[in-house]
Amino acid sequence: MNKKINFAIIGCGYVAQRHAKHIALHDNAELTGVFDIDIDKGKAFSNAFDCIYFNTYNALLETEAIDIVSVCTPNGHHHLATLEALNSGKSVLVEKPMSIKKSWCEQMIKAAFANNKALFVVKQNRFNPPVQAVYKLLKENKLGEIYSVNINCFWNRNERYYQQSAWRGTKALDGGTLFTQFSHFIDVLYYLFGDIDVHSGLVANMNHEQLIEFEDTGHFVFSLKEHNALGQLSYSTSAYKQNMEGSITILAEHATIKIGGKYLNTIDYQVSNGFDIEGLPESNASNNYGFYEGSMSNHEAVIKNAVAALNGQEPIMANAYDGLKVVEIIEQMYDKAIWRKSV
Ligand SMILES: NC(=O)c1ccc[n+]([C@@H]2O[C@H](COP(=O)([O-])OP(=O)(O)OC[C@H]3O[C@@H](n4cnc5c(N)ncnc54)[C@H](O)[C@@H]3O)[C@@H](O)[C@H]2O)c1
Repeated sequence: MNKKINFAIIGCGYVAQRHAKHIALHDNAELTGVFDIDIDKGKAFSNAFDCIYFNTYNALLETEAIDIVSVCTPNGHHHLATLEALNSGKSVLVEKPMSIKKSWCEQMIKAAFANNKALFVVKQNRFNPPVQAVYKLLKENKLGEIYSVNINCFWNRNERYYQQSAWRGTKALDGGTLFTQFSHFIDVLYYLFGDIDVHSGLVANMNHEQLIEFEDTGHFVFSLKEHNALGQLSYSTSAYKQNMEGSITILAEHATIKIGGKYLNTIDYQVSNGFDIEGLPESNASNNYGFYEGSMSNHEAVIKNAVAALNGQEPIMANAYDGLKVVEIIEQMYDKAIWRKSV
């Protein structure tokens, strides 16, 4: 099957532009129309991308030609838009995080099954060449026993970022720093090594006191369920002025490998028993939003995968179950976290 896939988008903000751009560039995809509760924004977006502006989400969902809806609304709204779309017989490509509650993810999965529709979750860092190279080594069992996995995420999110969209920094619609900034890294951890047990965590809001309703910095220790290995995650959005690092370092029986750069986009170092990762294609640039940098700009691969999967040509890169597991791990972390009070 090689059917043209008709997309619609709900939520016409920053990330929606990545979806629209790559839908337009794909030979076998088309953006039929969009909806946003901010009518001016929605109309400007529809003009820019030459598609219909629907006056209501219902009108969008009643349009038979639409195959799949890209859900690009704030995190705390993903489940509502997704449920309505699935129950209207559309497939869904939901932005990360899939939602901010495991129970909502379960409802989304049930609706996908009940309506026999596909539910994709955007996890674009899986496509990064270094991540794919390590995934292959793990599948080929090259690394031997895994001893330790260490994740460091040191980014900057400033006042302008949080003031740009009212939902950012709120508990109800953003959910937490692990959901919005660092779920990418938890997803790659889960993709490479499977599920984890979180043992303890310490979090604090070091310098975003007036801007966010949750922590900006955290440290967690965990173990890998499928390996006899220990792990740690250290993260912060308080790196001075700019994003500095987004890395996963693996200590294993037959290799030490650091997938690094700011977005898991380079191999920073490696020593192996004769299977060094070499000749990787260049990673895409990051999503640059002007005064802050997002994660890797791999939405091209995400859209390509959705079109191919809906045509039965390849499996879904990140399915709804993967999305749920990431939310479950983040919930586990926040449940275990101890707040360090300011002194
Ligand atoms: N994959 C990535 O790298 C990546 C990058 C940035 C954002 N995101 C995710 O994308 C989503 C959107 O983020 P953003 O930065 O584009 O936010 P944004 O604030 O720029 O855009 C959100 C849009 O949704 C609209 N909206 C809000 N509630 C709505 C509703 N009920 N119905 C219709 N429209 C509604 C807003 O008016 C706004 O235009 C978030 O879930 C975020 O976590 C993912």
